[in-house]
Amino acid sequence: MKKKILCLTMAMVLGLSLTACGGNGGDNTSGGSGTTADGGSTSTVANKDKPLVWYNRQPSNSSTGELDKAAMSFNKDTYYVGFDANQGAELQGTMVKDYIEKNIDKIDRNGDGVIGYVLAIGDIGHNDSIARTRGVRKALGTGVDKDGDINSEPVGTNVDGKASAVKDGSLEIGGKKYVVRELASQEMKNSAGATWDAATAGNAIGTWSSSFGKEIDVVVSNNDGMGMSMFNAWSKDNKVPTFGYDANNDAVAAIAEGYGGTISQHADVQAYLTLRVLRNALDGVDIDTGIGTADEAGNVLTKEVYTYKEDERSYYALNVAVTGENYQDFTDSTKVYEPVSKQLDKGKSAVKKVWLNIYNSSDNFLSSTYQPLLQKYDDLLNLEVDYIGGDGQTESNITNRLGNPGQYDAFAINMVKTDNAASYTALLNQ
Ligand code: BGC
Repeated sequence: MKKKILCLTMAMVLGLSLTACGGNGGDNTSGGSGTTADGGSTSTVANKDKPLVWYNRQPSNSSTGELDKAAMSFNKDTYYVGFDANQGAELQGTMVKDYIEKNIDKIDRNGDGVIGYVLAIGDIGHNDSIARTRGVRKALGTGVDKDGDINSEPVGTNVDGKASAVKDGSLEIGGKKYVVRELASQEMKNSAGATWDAATAGNAIGTWSSSFGKEIDVVVSNNDGMGMSMFNAWSKDNKVPTFGYDANNDAVAAIAEGYGGTISQHADVQAYLTLRVLRNALDGVDIDTGIGTADEAGNVLTKEVYTYKEDERSYYALNVAVTGENYQDFTDSTKVYEPVSKQLDKGKSAVKKVWLNIYNSSDNFLSSTYQPLLQKYDDLLNLEVDYIGGDGQTESNITNRLGNPGQYDAFAINMVKTDNAASYTALLNQ
């Protein structure tokens, strides 16, 4: 007993796995795991072999976008859960274009024949953000080619239409030709380094509108956090349609007040998948259980809401446009998805401990939509999850709180920067 306590203390101080202590004091010969009375894991599985899911930020090179497949196949129970970025980006671009076409009689506020829009970019090194910028430029005809794809760089300001990262597009509506111009775009990064920063977007629209406000006919954002910040700061009062992404509750409600629309990335499906892949791996059942194949409780998803790419070990939820026509169906973004809302049996899926981090506790989408959903699914899936909120700026702020992976049965990771998978896996390899 003494030896076990000493070893436990050492493990806690040094951040070692309990495996190093020679198992569970000899009373667990099968190498299985369970939870102690205080909820800690008694797992004898090495940390490097425990189920791991990356979510929301896909391990990838932030300059080239190339997927970090090594991270996504760290062990046999590693997966990524996100959403289909290209399908969503195309939907967002089309939603903006459709809106312009339908409202052409009032969209060109100064009647100069130029439909001007500004764009808030989340994170220039994040594949989802890049896809959304491209989607909007593609639909509006403002994209220019760079290395075989649409350039996704911010332009700064481009009121004169001379920037090289975009070009003027044109739309013919009702027999009349309009120029479409990206007047300005910027990565919304604050001085401390946090990206997708809503406050920065609110300031940017203040600066832009005071110098060329009359030319701004449409506001587009890579997400609702920044979109709503711009809407509240300027576009609501000036009746300028603003488009975001995520379908957070406040953004959906704002559609009634002139917010142009948003995209649901099916966070209700993603949050489920994030925990479900861990659950399945912990139970040692087929990974498709409760996903493409109904589990005993009857939970199952259809191919209309997700796809799985085996070579990327990635689950991608599908997106849905939320506009004035259907927003009433999306007013609660934290509601569990009914087809996967049934409680698992604790006798078969015993309580397990999960370490999960949110890269930035002040990110609107993750904290107001994703985390509340995770907290509902964790109960249904019998997972006891420790939620760690990061500062959105430094990886070490989060990794410092993964000092004792031996206490957990599985891990769900949301990196600050998509290049940084190794700073987490290194801790699991120790
Ligand atoms: C969301 C953003 C969020 C980002 C964080 C994206 O999928 O749309 O709102 O800030 O993830 O990584």
